[in-house]
Amino acid sequence: MAKPRTTYSCTECGGQHPKWQGQCPHCGAWNTLVEAVATPAPSRFQNLAGTRSEVRALGSVDATDKPRFPTGIEEFDRVLGGGLVPGGVILLGGDPGIGKSTLLLQAMAAIGAAHKVLYVTGEESVEQVALRAQRLALVNAPVSLLAEVQLERIVAAIGAEHPEIVVVDSIQTAYTEAITSAPGSVSQVRECAAQLTRIAKQRGIVVILVGHVTKDGAIAGPRVLEHIVDTVLYFEGDTHSSFRLVRAIKNRFGAANELGVFGMTDKGLKGVSNPSALFLSQHAESVPGSAIVATLEGSRPLLVEIQALVDPVQGGVPRRLSVGLDPQRLALLLAVLHRHGGVETAGYDVFVNAVGGVRINEPAADLAILLAVHSSLTSRPLPAKTLIFGEVGLAGEIRPVQRGQERIREAAKLGFRQVLIPNLNKPRQAIDKIRVMAVDRVDEALSLLRE
Ligand code: TYD
Ligand code: MG
Repeated sequence: MAKPRTTYSCTECGGQHPKWQGQCPHCGAWNTLVEAVATPAPSRFQNLAGTRSEVRALGSVDATDKPRFPTGIEEFDRVLGGGLVPGGVILLGGDPGIGKSTLLLQAMAAIGAAHKVLYVTGEESVEQVALRAQRLALVNAPVSLLAEVQLERIVAAIGAEHPEIVVVDSIQTAYTEAITSAPGSVSQVRECAAQLTRIAKQRGIVVILVGHVTKDGAIAGPRVLEHIVDTVLYFEGDTHSSFRLVRAIKNRFGAANELGVFGMTDKGLKGVSNPSALFLSQHAESVPGSAIVATLEGSRPLLVEIQALVDPVQGGVPRRLSVGLDPQRLALLLAVLHRHGGVETAGYDVFVNAVGGVRINEPAADLAILLAVHSSLTSRPLPAKTLIFGEVGLAGEIRPVQRGQERIREAAKLGFRQVLIPNLNKPRQAIDKIRVMAVDRVDEALSLLRE
C-alpha cells in the first residue's frame, strides 16, 4: 500500500502547506503548523464521488435512548452521566501518576463480567498491569490485555476480538503509519484519536482514551482532542493529598461539570459519596486569610477553604499568584477591592490557593477570595464557622449565585453558624438557625466584617 502523503495544516486558520515551517504562510501565526494526512480516507472519498448521503426528517430518526452500561463504580458512573454509552468516545485526562490507569482497571474489572473488554496498554507491559491488578486484588478479572502502540495493529486486534469496550492507555503512546511525526506529537495524537473515534461509531463500541496533561495543559496534546470525543473527563487533585476529583468538562451523554470524588488508598481508588467537607483544612481557631466558600459544580455542593497570603512586595513588581483559581479573576477582584472597597494592594504580593488541589471555576467564589485577601492584608481573621459565597461585579455589586439555599443547607449540616451571601440569595425562611448576613455591595460586606 502506498503511504498516504502528509501535509501541514495550521491549527489557527486551517491553512495547508506542503512543508513544515515556523510561520503559517496563510495567517502569519508562529509554530502552528502540524502534520496531517493529506488524502481523504478512501471510503469518505467514494461517498463524495458516488451516491448522495441520505437527508432525513428529524422526526423520522429513531432516537430511543441506547441502554447505558454502568461501570459498577458509583462515582465514575456519576461523572459519566449514568454509565458508558455504546459508540461513545471518552477522553480521560490528568497529570501522570494521578490514578487514570488505576481507575480504568478497576472499572474494567467490574464491567468485564457483563461486557467484553480490551485493555490496550502502551505505557506499561502486561506484567506491570498484572502487578497493579494484584495490588487491587483483581487478578482474575475478565479483562483482555494487549501491549501495543501501533494503531493499525490495535485496530486489527479490535477487528479480531470484537470487544464492546476498548481502553487505550495512553493516546500519547499510540502512533499510526499514516503520519511520520513522532508518537505523542499533536498530529499523531489527533490522527490516532480520529481513527479510533471512527471505529467506535462504526462498530458501536465504547472507546476510552487516556491522555496526559501537564500543569499548563499544553504540551501533551489531549486538549486538541476535546472536540473530537463525546465526553471529556479530567482528573484533578493534589498528588500529595489522597483525594482525587474526576470532572466532566464536556459530556454529550450527561451533565457537564459533574464531579466524582475518590480517595486513593493502598487498594486503589474508593468512591467518596459524601465529599462536602473534604476540602476544609482543620484550624483550631480562625486564622487571617482563610475563607470558606460553597461551590456547586456538578450536582453536589462542596465546601472549600480559600487561603490568601498578602505580603509587602520584596522589590520589583508585585506578584499575583493563584492555585486552583482563575488568575485573571484574581486581578479583577483586586481592582474591585481597590476601587469599590478602598483597599489598596499595589505594594503587596498576593497569593491565593484553593485547599486540597480542587479547581474552582465558578464566580460564586469571588466574594470569598476578596474577603480572604482583605483578611490577610489586615491580619484579621474572618468570623469563625462562616460560609461565604457571591459573584462580584465590576461595579462593586454582589450578584446572586445559583441554588444558594442548597449551599446554605450543606453548610448548616456541617455545623456552620452564619453565612455572608448576596442579598438576592437571602432565604425567605430561616434555615437551621443559621444567621444570614446579606449584602448588595463589596463595601457593605467589608464594613459588616469591621464591626
Ligand atoms: P496510576 O493509575 O498508574 O496513574 P496514571 O495512570 O494516572 O499515571 O496510579 C498512580 C499512583 O497511584 C501511583 O503513584 C501509585 C498509587 N496507587 C495507590 O496509592 N494505590 C493503589 O492501589 C494503586 C494501584 C496505585
Ligand atoms: Mg497510567
